[in-house]
Amino acid sequence: MSQLSVQPDQQTIATNASETLLDALLSHEIPHTHACGGQAYCSTCRVLILDGIKHCSSPTRAEKALAQKLQFPIHVRLACQTKISGDVTIRRLVMDNQDLDLVDQQLTGGQGIAEQELVLLYAGLKGMETFDQVNFPYDMAHIMGRYFQQLYQIISTYGGQISSTMGTHALVTFDPARHDRTVDRAVWAALDLLQAMAGVNQMVEQLHYQPLQLGLAVHPGLAVQVAPTPKSPPMPLGDGVTTVMGLATLPQTLVVSPAGLSQIANRVVLGAKVGEAGAQIVTGMRGAPPEQVAATPPELSLGQRLSSLIQKFRFGR
Ligand code: FES
Repeated sequence: MSQLSVQPDQQTIATNASETLLDALLSHEIPHTHACGGQAYCSTCRVLILDGIKHCSSPTRAEKALAQKLQFPIHVRLACQTKISGDVTIRRLVMDNQDLDLVDQQLTGGQGIAEQELVLLYAGLKGMETFDQVNFPYDMAHIMGRYFQQLYQIISTYGGQISSTMGTHALVTFDPARHDRTVDRAVWAALDLLQAMAGVNQMVEQLHYQPLQLGLAVHPGLAVQVAPTPKSPPMPLGDGVTTVMGLATLPQTLVVSPAGLSQIANRVVLGAKVGEAGAQIVTGMRGAPPEQVAATPPELSLGQRLSSLIQKFRFGR
């Protein structure tokens, strides 16, 4: 008999080597979720092995398939498939309706829960506080509209995804599983953004405000992707995000982490070092940019645009 310690229930139960963890839990009246009845279809019986992973049986073929689909880390196991041959401590993971919703989202959306290597681009815009929001809210809306329009277009062109925005801050991801040369893509996109920002700032100065300051940083790192709602794009979280946000401290400047620089070493034009960790300002790239992903929409003439706007105002289309 082995001892199975169960969290958060704070119970320890005796378990024999021929029964699954699910059988042991249920026989001791611990109401562990098991929506598919132990068929390795639903994953609602998942548990986190806190201690004693070496005493757990190897995953069955069915468990392997489901764990691969959901990108389970090795310490997350299906209770309906796992037996133990020594003392083990687990934490039950699906405890209420909200947990079930998350499982549902993962199964239907095919979203894994493992850490993933992503290239992160952080763009933080400062200086909006000089705008006269009370008397001229249109100025703020118009300038920010121009900025986000350019941001979206440039990021799409290089195959990135705007994963989250908060106020004037944006976090963009480039996924190596979807595109090649992802650090190049992020750096080229950031340099294009700096150029676009110069155009936006010309307009800002015409309106008699102080120029806005865009701080940019690129870092390839591990992140866990979490979708806040079933329809929203996954949002990266974790150390990689903290690192990239910490690098973007200088106005009108792109800073790239050492991990990023190592991937573009022979084609990057470097500026000054930033801090002591080896991050450096990047002022340009040599050679051809990566292949564009989204075709830039054909530019309509001003006359064509005006005529299209008039149609919308007059006929609502
Ligand atoms: S009960 Fe459904 S996978 Fe274990």
